[in-house]
Amino acid sequence: MNILLLGSGGREHALAWKISQSPKLTKLYIAPGNAGTALAGNNVSLPSDDFDRIGEFVIREKINMVVVGPEDPLVRGIADYFLQDPVLMHIPVIGPSKKAAMLEGSKEFAKGFMIRHHIPTARYKSVTFPRITEGIRFLDTLQPPYVLKANGLAAGKGVLIIDNLFDARDELHQILSGKFGDAGKTVVIEEFLSGIELSVFVITDGKTYKLLPEAKDYKRIGEGDTGPNTGGMGAVSPVPFADTHFMKKVEDRIIVPTIRGLQDEGIEYKGFIFFGLINCHGEPYVIEYNARLGDPESEVVLPRLRTDLVDLLEGVASGTLADKTVVIDDRFVTTVMLASGGYPGSYEKGKEITGLDRVSGSVVFHAGTKQDVDRLVTNGGRVMAVSSYGNTMQEALATSYKNAAVIEFENKYYRPDIGFDVK
Ligand code: AMP
Ligand code: GLY
Repeated sequence: MNILLLGSGGREHALAWKISQSPKLTKLYIAPGNAGTALAGNNVSLPSDDFDRIGEFVIREKINMVVVGPEDPLVRGIADYFLQDPVLMHIPVIGPSKKAAMLEGSKEFAKGFMIRHHIPTARYKSVTFPRITEGIRFLDTLQPPYVLKANGLAAGKGVLIIDNLFDARDELHQILSGKFGDAGKTVVIEEFLSGIELSVFVITDGKTYKLLPEAKDYKRIGEGDTGPNTGGMGAVSPVPFADTHFMKKVEDRIIVPTIRGLQDEGIEYKGFIFFGLINCHGEPYVIEYNARLGDPESEVVLPRLRTDLVDLLEGVASGTLADKTVVIDDRFVTTVMLASGGYPGSYEKGKEITGLDRVSGSVVFHAGTKQDVDRLVTNGGRVMAVSSYGNTMQEALATSYKNAAVIEFENKYYRPDIGFDVK
C-alpha cells in the first residue's frame, strides 16, 4: 500500500523508519519531511495546512492511508476534511477528528471531559476575562506554586508555573488580556501536582485500544531539569517506576474511562492517544492529553515496537484492532537529542553536520535537518535524536552518548543526564 505521512520532525523520522520496514508498504511519502525521512521514503513539499493540495496529492499518487504526525493538522480538522469529500472519504486518516483532537487543542474541553468521566486530574477552574474575579478567588484557595494554562494551542508556551500569588494574579490578567492571543482568551487555573511525569501511549480504532511502550521525556534544556522548557531533550523507555501495579491503575482509572468516555459522547477517535501523566505518591493523574505521539518519545517507543506498524494502522482504519497483537521489545531504548546552541532561545541554522558515518550501534533520527546540495545541515533547534538499545538503561545511554559525541556541528548541545532520575 501507499502511505502519506505528514510532519517533519524526529517523531516523523521514527514513524517513517518503522513504516518503511513493513512488508505491506509499496511507497512512502513524507510531507514535508526532513533529510532523515528522505532515507526512508520520498519527501514531498506539501504544507501540512493545505488540505486541498494534500487531497489532490492523495488522489494523484493513489495513496491508501494518511498518517498524521503533529497535532496541528488534526486540530484544524484534516480527518473531517477527508470525510466530507466523496472521493477522499475512502482514504483512512490515522488521527482523530477535529472534535476528538480538542482533547489536546482545548485544555478546558480536556478538563471537562476528565471530570465527566471521573478521570483523576488536578482540581481546576476555567475563566474568561469577564469572570477574572472568580479566577482570582480560585487562586486564593490554592497553595503555591500556581499553574495557569492558556486554553488553546500556544506552541508549547501556554503553561505557566508561578511561585507566588501576586505574580499569578498578574499573569492571569496578562494572559486574559491577550498575551498568548486567542489561545489565552480562556485560562485554565490548576492545582499544582507534585510528582514524577511519564508519557503513556495507546493506539485506538475507537472501539478498543492497544497499549504501546511508555516513556519519560526530559523537557528542560538544562542538566538536572533546569532552565526553560523545550520540545524535549531526550527520552527513555521503559520507565522503571511504571511497573505492572502502576500501569494497571493507569489502564483502569485513565485509559479505559477515556476510550469509553469518547464512545459515550459519540466522539470517533482513530489514532494515537498520548496521556501526559504524573505519578503522585504512586497514584496516576492526567496532566494533559495529546492527540498524537510524543517527540522525542516516538524515538524510543517505536524502536521498542516489534509488531508491524502498518498492520496495526490497518486495524485502526478498518476497526479490527482487537484482532491484532502488539509485541514489545523487552530491551531499554534511550534517546539523546542533539540541539543547536541557543535553543530554545534564538539559534543559527545551516551548520554542516558531519560524523554520521562514525556512528555505530545507534539509530539516528533526524529532527531539524536539511540536505543542502551535497551537505547535510542543521535546520532547527532540535537537530537529531540518537536512539540506542541496551539490556539496561545504563547500557543504552552509554551507546547514545558515545554516538552523540561523534556527530559534529558548530555549537552542538545535548543534555548529559538523560534518565538521571529513574536510573
Ligand atoms: P502541559 O502543556 O499541560 O503538558 O503542561 C506543561 C508542563 O507543565 C507539564 O509537562 C508539567 O511539567 C507542568 N504542569 C502542567 N500542569 C501541571 C499541574 N497541574 N501540576 C504540576 N505540573 C504541571
Ligand atoms: N515530548 C512531549 C510532546 O511531544 O508533547
